[in-house]
Amino acid sequence: MCGIVGYTGLRDAYPIVIKGLKRLEYRGYDSTGVALMSDTLRVYKKMGKVASLEEITLGKELGGNTGIGHTRWATHGEPSDRNAHPHLSASGKLAMIHNGIIENYGQLKQELINKGYQLKSDTDTEVLLNFIEEIKNNNACSLEEAIRIALKRVTGTYVILLIDSEMPDTIIAARKGSPLVIGIGKGEHFLGSDASPMLEYTKEVVYVNDYELAIVKPQELILKNLGNERLTPYVQKLDIELAAIEKGGYEHFMLKEIFEQPKTIFDCLRGRLHADTGTITLSGIEQYSKALQKANRIVMIACGTSWHAGLTAEYIFEECCRLNVEVEYASEFRYRNPVIHPGDIILAISQSGETADTLVAIENAKAKGAIILGVVNVVGSSIARMSHAGAYTHAGPEIGVASTKAFTAQLAVLTMIAFKIGQLRNTISQERLSALLHELEAIPAKVEKILSYVEPIKKIAKQYAQARDFLYLGRGYNFPVALEGALKLKEISYIHAEGYPAAEMKHGPIALVDEQLPVVVVATRDSYHEKVLSNMQEIKARKGRVIGIITEEDTAALELCEAALHVPAADEMLAPMLNVIPLQLLAYYIGVEKGCDVDKPRNLAKSVTVE
Ligand code: G6P
Repeated sequence: MCGIVGYTGLRDAYPIVIKGLKRLEYRGYDSTGVALMSDTLRVYKKMGKVASLEEITLGKELGGNTGIGHTRWATHGEPSDRNAHPHLSASGKLAMIHNGIIENYGQLKQELINKGYQLKSDTDTEVLLNFIEEIKNNNACSLEEAIRIALKRVTGTYVILLIDSEMPDTIIAARKGSPLVIGIGKGEHFLGSDASPMLEYTKEVVYVNDYELAIVKPQELILKNLGNERLTPYVQKLDIELAAIEKGGYEHFMLKEIFEQPKTIFDCLRGRLHADTGTITLSGIEQYSKALQKANRIVMIACGTSWHAGLTAEYIFEECCRLNVEVEYASEFRYRNPVIHPGDIILAISQSGETADTLVAIENAKAKGAIILGVVNVVGSSIARMSHAGAYTHAGPEIGVASTKAFTAQLAVLTMIAFKIGQLRNTISQERLSALLHELEAIPAKVEKILSYVEPIKKIAKQYAQARDFLYLGRGYNFPVALEGALKLKEISYIHAEGYPAAEMKHGPIALVDEQLPVVVVATRDSYHEKVLSNMQEIKARKGRVIGIITEEDTAALELCEAALHVPAADEMLAPMLNVIPLQLLAYYIGVEKGCDVDKPRNLAKSVTVE
């Protein structure tokens, strides 16, 4: 988490850094700060979002052609002005921002305290900065050398950017485990946690790798490893347009992204799904056709919404590929001693491609001989680069903190992978596959249709926005949809919501049902339909308030609902891509109704780069 931005060149750094920070606020918004270098080094920082920093800098001296900026998601030390980045070293000559966690900061801090240092904040960042300065002073070496020595002592993850007032046009950056992109301009360079801060200035970027150090000046980018050997920067061309990261007339990014789904799902299927020939092209995955044919086991690893996509895919893979499928929380998997056999397939699912737990979990599995396939949205991200092969979701930049379009794109890609493997293993008949491919092709139009029903959803949101708790139920393919619906509501509206398998309700949650409790039941027509209708009866009998996600013209289901949201009929395997849409909208409109900041929900961050 945390967003970092840097600029060095001929322009004023401040406006570039501030604009970049606004684009990176999705990574955290507990506090914001900038350090600017002109004739002196100036630091401005403030608890809260970028807008609060802008207020306190009004009328201040903001000149300088070199600058760094930070938007924080607090780990060490509460959100406050004092703990906001950039931090200044004891001498006041160095300023540093940091994304990540220095795990052995306690030990380093003690060493500094023993030497008489007095720290001003509770952060691990200030400890590392002073540790670097201490090495620089003691060894009478360059800042670059001091950073190298210090980083060899550090455990944890970091991207750090430093400015030294003795080198006014230089930013030194280093990375391990957190993302860093450097944009190459004409006589200027840009730095960012992702490419969004530099999009309007350059399309040429370098993704810095772990254990690399960059010395960035307006005219020069020097890349080295921690052994002080020079590396050749690998310059890549960005394929994102500026419009993709702007709101485009919508009130929130989340709403824009929900409404983009017909297009994003279409983009994801384009060139891959060939319903007319009954085939799927996934060139990355196809390199591993033999391994996939022989595989005994697939383990899906992910966090948050991506984990829900994996859980949905588990049902699809079992059905189509007749494989053992396990779906794991990356944060649990990485600390177990999981049994991995060479040749096992790991499917890493991640929107950002930077989630720290997912990254380490796949690193561990890779070391044990597993084949890593990535299902990732952000092109060039760490997980994408660490995977042996994969398929991008092509959903475009997702900025709303609560994931929406990335989820449906993940489902589309995972479904195609399952179909591909099923075809390779001959575990799905060509007739069934062809029918499914035609159905899959029709999904974007069906999503479009659901999106035209927003008025009833707004009405329902108004009606239920004051509820204290919500229960979400679903069965089979719709169980993960219920989990995702509950997660969306929690994230966006701060209403407590629980997702449960519909039939498990009898083993606990039914005790919560009373005339106050809204129970959202995902009850579209599928092989469990009759059973789910019985569950709805059970809730109704206890005066629970059933909100049904039901198939159009399903009068039997409609009769059991206090309120209903309709979706077009679809094969049960593909229905989650449709059924989740009204749940995203319901959460969105309830959040708006409650006056919540839906794009930046409290305490959350979009890209979780700390464990
Ligand atoms: C955070 C985000 C979620 C996301 C999860 C996993 O919690 O707020 O929206 O699902 O991380 O992120 P990933 O980028 O790996 O999909």
